[in-house]
Amino acid sequence: MSLVASLYPALKPWLFKMDAERAHEWTTRMMRIANGFGLLTAGQGTLRQSPVECLGLKFPNALGLAAGMDKSASAVEAWAALGFGFVEVGTLTPRPQPGNPKPRLFRLPEHEALINRLGFNNPGIHSAVKRLEKRRTKAVVGVNIGKNFDTPNDAAVNDYLYCLKVAYPVADYIAVNISSPNTKGLRELQAEDSIRQLLAALKKEQASLQKEHGKKVPMLVKIAPDLEGQQIEALARVFNELALDGVIATNTTINRAAVAGHRLENEAGGLSGAPVRERSTQVIQAFRMLLREETPIIGVGGILSGAHAVEKLNAGASLVQIYSGLVYRGPGLVGEVLEAIP
Ligand SMILES: Cc1cc2nc3c(=O)[nH]c(=O)nc-3n(C[C@H](O)[C@H](O)[C@H](O)COP(=O)(O)O)c2cc1C
Repeated sequence: MSLVASLYPALKPWLFKMDAERAHEWTTRMMRIANGFGLLTAGQGTLRQSPVECLGLKFPNALGLAAGMDKSASAVEAWAALGFGFVEVGTLTPRPQPGNPKPRLFRLPEHEALINRLGFNNPGIHSAVKRLEKRRTKAVVGVNIGKNFDTPNDAAVNDYLYCLKVAYPVADYIAVNISSPNTKGLRELQAEDSIRQLLAALKKEQASLQKEHGKKVPMLVKIAPDLEGQQIEALARVFNELALDGVIATNTTINRAAVAGHRLENEAGGLSGAPVRERSTQVIQAFRMLLREETPIIGVGGILSGAHAVEKLNAGASLVQIYSGLVYRGPGLVGEVLEAIP
């Protein structure tokens, strides 16, 4: 186990006394500093690696950091040093934006869950791209893109096209986020006609960028766990029709059944962690049945142990990602997942 992973259990009670967003900022800053001194890799020589080929890319291993943890691409090297095989940065929007008023991130430790309504606080796509141009890591880097909060849905396509163009030269893959519950109306883009229009435009742009840059950057769509059977079928139909490169399932949920009675139950936002695990796995299973065989799924939602990661792979995911698990279990979860997955 790495030095930081063994320190986390001692640090956690202190971090959990801090406001959740401050704790997040503090740990990211400390990680960058620790990585500068080579401390993140210290004692970690034993981390198991099983390289995976997926999306036409070589992943050092199948475990990724989910979007939202590194919204500004400020610590990619540090995440890679912790053992992640890939890092999805963002969500990034064309223009920088501050996100929703604070407080906007809450812990529900009794449920090993988080509720967030950050609202795409981010420094803008250009700032992230500048950082990514300088990266030296072997980890695969995905760039997750969205729309600015004040861009109406009927102009959303312009924001996504803009981000795709700007990120294309530096991204290993692009994740089109249409499933955050914290940007008004965003999830309506998951409706069949809207998604067909949006993705058709993005696929066309992807093809012309492929010619221009001489490389294909795969494009995936990140979906919500709160989709009904018919909506899942409609989305899969569109994804197959347009030969989408991959699907990321799932984002956070607006369903509160699993945390009913909790004092924070009625905080607006997306719920993540243990309560979303089962639903996200079901959505992965459903998409696996409906998607073309060659379309991979990245499984995310409630992975808090190695066994949970295996569950996602068994449901049909080719790669997995974690966010909330890192908060509750610390960096030791990275090693645990890498040991558990085939
Ligand atoms: C605080 C927080 C911020 C997030 N921000 C984003 C985001 O900007 N874009 C995105 O696609 N997903 C975002 N997510 C969703 C995660 O990437 C992930 O899909 C979700 O939390 C389920 O995984 P988990 O249970 O392992 O946390 C965020 C999640 C959390 C908890």
